[in-house]
Amino acid sequence: MNSNNSQQNNKKTWSGRFTEPVSELVERYTASVPFDYRLAEYDIQGSLAHAKMLSIQGIISNSDQVAIEQGLTQIRDEIRNNEFTWQLALEDVHLNIEKRLTHLIGDAGKRLHTARSRNDQVATDIRLFLRASIDRILSLIKDLQYALLNLAEKHIDTVMPGFTHLQVAQPVLFSHHLMAYFAMLKRDTERLLDCRKRVNLLPLGAAALAGTSYPIDRHLVAKLLDFEGICENSLDAVSDRDFAIEFCASAALIMTHLSRLSEELILWMNPRFGFIELADRFCTGSSIMPQKKNPDVPELVRGKTGRVNGHLIALLTLMKGQPLAYNKDNQEDKEPLFDTVDTLIDTLRIYAEMLSGVTVHHNTMRQSALRGHATATDLADYLVKKDIPFRDAHEIVAKTVQFAEQKGCDLSDLPIHELQQFSDRIEADVLTVLTLEGSIKSRNHIGGTAPEQVMAALQKARQWLENEYIQPR
Ligand code: ARG
Repeated sequence: MNSNNSQQNNKKTWSGRFTEPVSELVERYTASVPFDYRLAEYDIQGSLAHAKMLSIQGIISNSDQVAIEQGLTQIRDEIRNNEFTWQLALEDVHLNIEKRLTHLIGDAGKRLHTARSRNDQVATDIRLFLRASIDRILSLIKDLQYALLNLAEKHIDTVMPGFTHLQVAQPVLFSHHLMAYFAMLKRDTERLLDCRKRVNLLPLGAAALAGTSYPIDRHLVAKLLDFEGICENSLDAVSDRDFAIEFCASAALIMTHLSRLSEELILWMNPRFGFIELADRFCTGSSIMPQKKNPDVPELVRGKTGRVNGHLIALLTLMKGQPLAYNKDNQEDKEPLFDTVDTLIDTLRIYAEMLSGVTVHHNTMRQSALRGHATATDLADYLVKKDIPFRDAHEIVAKTVQFAEQKGCDLSDLPIHELQQFSDRIEADVLTVLTLEGSIKSRNHIGGTAPEQVMAALQKARQWLENEYIQPR
């Protein structure tokens, strides 16, 4: 970034009425180019569409439009090839590009800003940026869903203890557990698709706040930029950033879901659980304790969730006190938004890869489900089917569990004659009820953990991913 104020005669584009230049501190404080330069591609895209419309409407000449198109194409190449000199004194991405354009093509460059303001220009840039980001994120969520689905299909027979309060509750299929995250990600996708509809509207034409006196064609610009429609109130178009807030809320939820899964991976990888192993490439060692293998990646996902949640609050706070219409406050929308997008993209990418490298310890999971009296509810349900009221059955099983605890074994290890001490309704058929497989198989309805249901759920998920879910564009 070039911060030399005097170079290239950098009189501010807007400084006509000013009698003194801004101080170096004010210049640095108010500039956004150190971070908004990354909107350049979208800024150029927006300008190309605007210029085309201006010329079709007879607002600028055809030759001016041709010159603008050539100039902007050259600038785009310069930026892509890292040959463009960004200048802090030119404040933001918009003025940097406009100044260069004028330098290249003269007066035609100065005509580009006819019927436009930086206010509707920047709102357009962010929407284009966010639309592209959403599309990228949607495809990465899909990759992650495939990774979950593949892992679930591979371990369709693996039984694990299901937890409530992080205490053993009831046995479940590991695949069923994984598919809970698939369901969360499916809702995340739906949320993003919905948010995308509101992002995908054109603010250009709103100009500074009130619209413009030139005979513009907003629908044409919308069409050229592939927007689904236009923002219908000019003051709203330039001032609100609710679409970015909505996106950040969806992003915070995705991160929150991944943070929960991370917490589980961390626990499962602890040798006291020993359920899974993460591939070495997602872990690190300790500089002092040679035995250590730490789950850094899931820990960082958990940590970075805090930062994304923070960006959501930052944007909400940014908006809450702003009177209509545009205020410079809105320049502060970019860094939280960019960081949210970057963090989310990296997290999703790393997660899909990490899940494909998970080793599952089938037997350890199973053994763990055999401790903690995971089939106690099944025994109670068995008694209810033999006509004992549920509350009484609950009490009987609680006593039985207490007995097993004293004996130092699992409920399912008790021989039939010992079980019968607690109720005369208990017969030999109880033994299948108390097995992990018996328990799991009995939960045979939509949403239950019975193998038949989980298989159907896996099939349905694959069908959705492969055939039903249509990615935008
Ligand atoms: N850099 C500004 C932003 O990000 C562009 C819009 C400036 N508009 C203005 N009236 N100063 O919001």
